Amino acid sequence: MALYSEKVMDHFRNPRNVGVIEDANGIGEVGNAKCGDIMKMYLKIEDDIIKDVKFETFGCGSAIASSSMATELIKGKPVADAMKLTNKAVTEALDGLPAYKLHCSVLAEEAIQSALNDYYSRKEAEGQK
Ligand code: FES
Repeated sequence: MALYSEKVMDHFRNPRNVGVIEDANGIGEVGNAKCGDIMKMYLKIEDDIIKDVKFETFGCGSAIASSSMATELIKGKPVADAMKLTNKAVTEALDGLPAYKLHCSVLAEEAIQSALNDYYSRKEAEGQK
């Protein structure tokens, strides 16, 4: 059996939603201290819907495939659904990752959580003005 599924290879070779959203209202950046990989997520949220999502990943192939798949899974979805996205769901959508690469999908979950937290703290700050 090949080490990586076809879906992983597809999202690694043709990652979806790569880039920056200039007017993002939720930005999250996370890293893994062990491997040194970094992932940055940009969210554009309107009326509690993820209207747009983009990412920049400086990391391994699995991290790129995981971020690409994670963005596809939350795009157009309500914020409440994005909050529930787990690395397990990302891994399953990719038809699996080798055990020692599971942390790459965790990074995608954390990056989205971090961007959502940023969105909520901005909202809170706006409410306090
Ligand atoms: Fe660290 Fe993949 S090896 S994110």
